[in-house]
Amino acid sequence: MAQPPGNKGVMTSAPWWQSGVVYQIYPRSFQDSNGDGIGDLPGISQRIDYLADLGIDAIWLSPVYPSPMADFGYDVANYVDIDAVFGTLADLDALVKTAHQRGLKVIMDLVPNHTSDQHPWFLESRASRDNPKRDWYVWRDPKPDGSVPTNWLSEFGGPSWTLDPITGQYYYHAYLAAQPDLNWRNREVVAAMDDVLRFWFDRGVDGFRLDTIHHLIEDADFRDNPPNPDFKPGDPPTKALQRLYTNDRPETQTVLARFRQIADEYDDRALIGEAYIPLEALMAYYGHAGSGLHLPFNFQLLSTPWTPQDIAELIQRYEALLPPGAWPNWVLGNHDRQRLISRIGETQAPLAAMLLLSLRGTPTIYYGEEIGMSDVPIPPELVQDPWEKQVPGHGLGRDPARTPMAWSPERKSGFTHGIPWLPLGDDALARNVATQKADPQSLWSLYRDLLHLRRTEPALAVGDCVAIQAERSVLRYERHHAGRRFSVILNFGDEVTDVSAPGGDMIYSTASRNGRRTVTDRVRLLAHEGVLVAHAR
Ligand code: NOJ
Repeated sequence: MAQPPGNKGVMTSAPWWQSGVVYQIYPRSFQDSNGDGIGDLPGISQRIDYLADLGIDAIWLSPVYPSPMADFGYDVANYVDIDAVFGTLADLDALVKTAHQRGLKVIMDLVPNHTSDQHPWFLESRASRDNPKRDWYVWRDPKPDGSVPTNWLSEFGGPSWTLDPITGQYYYHAYLAAQPDLNWRNREVVAAMDDVLRFWFDRGVDGFRLDTIHHLIEDADFRDNPPNPDFKPGDPPTKALQRLYTNDRPETQTVLARFRQIADEYDDRALIGEAYIPLEALMAYYGHAGSGLHLPFNFQLLSTPWTPQDIAELIQRYEALLPPGAWPNWVLGNHDRQRLISRIGETQAPLAAMLLLSLRGTPTIYYGEEIGMSDVPIPPELVQDPWEKQVPGHGLGRDPARTPMAWSPERKSGFTHGIPWLPLGDDALARNVATQKADPQSLWSLYRDLLHLRRTEPALAVGDCVAIQAERSVLRYERHHAGRRFSVILNFGDEVTDVSAPGGDMIYSTASRNGRRTVTDRVRLLAHEGVLVAHAR
């Protein structure tokens, strides 16, 4: 059978990780191919045509390595294999091949900060104080009274030290006790991870999303973290301290520079990094003159108040902070956060799509965002997320945003023949890919249209972003590139609004979609409408 044509990408000389759009897949929840109720790699391969047609450029897979699944794959027991629940190495190779044939890049998730406590490295390390791998992890003696070495707290609740009875020392874990932190000051650890990166790059993987890199290194002097003056009663206990000596330590950049060196041994690979730190601090993660990450994730839209004023201020601040040559990126959702619609409301979803896909910078779409999936309430007896189990009652649980993809109007939404590992949303019968693909006014069709517009109009993908303004309920900015000039005008409000605009051709509207209109000097925007206007230069 003839292969369907591959995605051609945006017609520009910019590298794919700048001009393209990344789509995050949470593999457990995307497509189950064997009826065990858990998504897998062959399932993802079956959906590559879907993704290529939607118009994205790269998929990022949350971890698929062998894992006891204490944190659903973010506890890796072997960095160079695939967990049986997701398939085999051959399935991964097949997925990479199919994706490449359709012009899609494949980004894997690398978890360098910690391993599983079942990883053979840790089993060796904990075996004795003089084990050759002892120093691969962070071990400390108890204080004289037997208590923990420092006051450091785990992100998932409780102390971040666990006493190991085998040798009478504590080991450090920024997350679960089942996720011991590697010691990145140890050169053998660095070399071992070099090999991991090369293993996957050699197999054709196009990049990595690096997990929780702000946690890679802790203070060499093991100083206590100071109290957090902003801590309020009722906050999760993990917020009680500032993470001064455990997060974003300066030595982190040396580790990242090494990752970059390895990536640069290969053509056209990209490194994306997860660091929940303020924008000012995030800029260091670009490194100097291309020595750091290609894309340190910009998570600001996940928490910035959803108003034109706040978002305009954010765009201006971010653009101003970016060091020379650094490429921006934007994120509206991921597997750790509330779903977009549950945060900003359904009426804002088309506007959010236009914002994400028209800002300067690589966008990341979280699976299901394109059909407006919302958080699914999980009854206590079905809770899976260890964070919710360890710190209940603070709304920290991430299961609601990780529920299975709704593909079709069937009872199990085309996700599985078995029992889904998390329940599907009540709305899946109506809100699913098949139903929305058939409707040119659906959210899915809007995403598809905008993704395809980015391909035909490079200004929307790689153009400069200028004239960023907020006025009353409207946010607007312009994109310029190679003689093309566009205005993006977004009405966040729930009333009709008239705005002045330079003359041009309205090429797209979230309300009327493709219907073209000529703009002379004013545009009337409906409630929650966003428009794209092409101007003559
Ligand atoms: C960040 C990941 O996105 C999250 O899902 C995970 O629990 C922690 N890092 C620990 O690896």
